[in-house]
Amino acid sequence: MNKQLEKELIQKAMEMTKLSYAPYSGYHVGAALLTKDGRIFTGCNIENASYGATNCAERTAFFKAVSEGIKDFEAIAIVGAPADEAAENTFSDYAYPCGICRQVMQEFCTKDFCIIVAKSTEDYKKYTLQELLPFGFGGLH
Ligand code: THU
Repeated sequence: MNKQLEKELIQKAMEMTKLSYAPYSGYHVGAALLTKDGRIFTGCNIENASYGATNCAERTAFFKAVSEGIKDFEAIAIVGAPADEAAENTFSDYAYPCGICRQVMQEFCTKDFCIIVAKSTEDYKKYTLQELLPFGFGGLH
């Protein structure tokens, strides 16, 4: 993946934190998921008064894509920060995907799926799914 596309994914993930519904944790997460055919599906976290019903930003993006018939993915960019930081596009820590989201990636992605965690379009790290979920369970890919 070229650097321009990486930055575009991060930019879109950062924009998605503005749509995050996080009145309980105050932590705003955005994700941008790149499909193999070059489309981008975005997601934000969506919380619930019944906390367990919360959906993470990454899974929002995956479920939007899968529900549109897409099951081949190349990469995802993730950013997260408290509301006030996110509003100013300041992401002082990398936001790593939770275990449930890694498992959803395992379901639909190959080992070389690229996970980008970013503080900005200039400051980011890239991992493969294999690195973040070694010895993962199941998945059809
Ligand atoms: N969250 C995500 O959106 N993605 C993750 O991978 C980790 C956690 C959300 C869920 C909840 O709304 C908030 O961050 C605090 O846990």
